[in-house]
Amino acid sequence: KSHKPLTGRRAIVTAGPTREPIDPVRYLSNHSSGRQGYAIAQALADLGAEVELVTGPTSIATPLGTKNTTIETALEMRAAVEAALPADIFVSVAAVADWRPAERTSKKTQKPVDGPAPLQLIENPDILRSVCESDKRPELVVGFAAETHDVVELARAKRLRKGCDWIVANDVSGDVMGGQENEMIIVTETSEDRLPRQSKQAAAQALARKIANHFGEI
Ligand code: C5P
Repeated sequence: KSHKPLTGRRAIVTAGPTREPIDPVRYLSNHSSGRQGYAIAQALADLGAEVELVTGPTSIATPLGTKNTTIETALEMRAAVEAALPADIFVSVAAVADWRPAERTSKKTQKPVDGPAPLQLIENPDILRSVCESDKRPELVVGFAAETHDVVELARAKRLRKGCDWIVANDVSGDVMGGQENEMIIVTETSEDRLPRQSKQAAAQALARKIANHFGEI
């Protein structure tokens, strides 16, 4: 069959961390490198999809052959994803910060002489869940679940809670986050597909093939 089975399909991929500013010199973030998300965007484009990558700040090169939008905060990521809809495929790889500072001060905050840290947090929107609930929900929505324990059970529960079609579970108790390799378990409504530990590129290609397969194109 076709060498480019996702030709004519549109995909949105989120990747990397978000960065939530506290003041002009500080922020909250996490260790996501963006590698797995970039590799997935690339693998989908290699199969012919028109890909829009919405990425937080990373130190690696963005893929070629995808439309890349760089954002900093979760709120900016949500706006960029909404602007990128509609699509056939949404793959939510980004490590979105769960919380952001309730206010962002324009001047550097000063350490109090004593008393608690002057930092209040509020919850960020869940971008994956809002895409699942959108009028423009893509046909196939894939979320990620990075866990350190009970990986598959937590992924199954997360699939239902978020309302997505598949959850890619991975065990980040080792050196996965920020590392070069990944071991994915793709949890669907009816199956659990355990992939071997492999490079993030190879894992991305396997996921992209499974996505093409879902659309009946391989
Ligand atoms: O709830 P948890 O953060 O473990 O869910 C992970 C999944 O949800 C990932 O696919 C991640 O990209 C997505 N997510 C999101 N917006 C958030 C938090 C997580 O899109 N605020």
